[in-house]
Amino acid sequence: MIIDWKKIALEMYNEMKTEISGMQKKPGLWAILVWNNPSSEKYVEQKRKWAEFIWMDFYLYRFREDISEKELVNEVEKLNLDEKISWFIVQLPLPNHISDKKIINSIKREKDVDWFHPINQWKILIWDNSWFSPCTPEGIMKIFSYYEIDLVWKIITVIWKSNIVWKPIRLMLINAWATVISCNSKTPDLSQFTSISDIVISATWNPNLIKSDMVKEDSILIDVWFTFLDWKIYWDMDFENLKDKSSMITPVPGWVWALTVANLLANTLKASKK
Ligand code: GUN
Repeated sequence: MIIDWKKIALEMYNEMKTEISGMQKKPGLWAILVWNNPSSEKYVEQKRKWAEFIWMDFYLYRFREDISEKELVNEVEKLNLDEKISWFIVQLPLPNHISDKKIINSIKREKDVDWFHPINQWKILIWDNSWFSPCTPEGIMKIFSYYEIDLVWKIITVIWKSNIVWKPIRLMLINAWATVISCNSKTPDLSQFTSISDIVISATWNPNLIKSDMVKEDSILIDVWFTFLDWKIYWDMDFENLKDKSSMITPVPGWVWALTVANLLANTLKASKK
């Protein structure tokens, strides 16, 4: 079965649209885009498209790729101080000469609807989910709840290493009583882990990393990131050869990012009501 991320996201968008239509003041989302690589462009375009769909205002600040780290920190600081701007995001990744970490740390944590700031992330560690959760991990968790997949007793291999998705999703799965195996693209003999797993979640930017002989029958396969090679998009999962072997798989083309965007807008709407 192909995971219908669009349906889950659309249900969320329609609920938000109804709610916003009854609000006196439309909520807005501010975004900074520095590195206009094709993935980030596409991603930000989705954020704008769906924000507009639910009648949320969307404002994009674009900066040249050669902006210095110090200049970008200053720009973030301006948004931190601007009382008209209640929350904003900085689209990642940033160009190589700018540290993602430094920029994330400079965002005022109360304005961080991405939930990337270290103090916000730390809340997941102590399982304080009273406020927000980070958008992509929450999107993956929504897939499990939508399809009523009980994570207790499940062996789940998670393959990637980013701070913004990999660590929080592991914690969220651990808190849901799953048995979590942590791998990355350099794990020796990855298949020894994927082949015993009920669920595999991958986001390494390695085209077709997960092949049919690496997973067991009827596993659930979630592909969270793609990469561009020679202007062609590749996913981590060798979708064509996996779609019949798995019980559920995320679609290609298409991606769990629909749910990331839906959760970002849900966080923004929630923040606007506080
Ligand atoms: N780059 C990839 N995923 C994300 C995300 O969820 N938020 C931001 N700001 N940048 C990203």
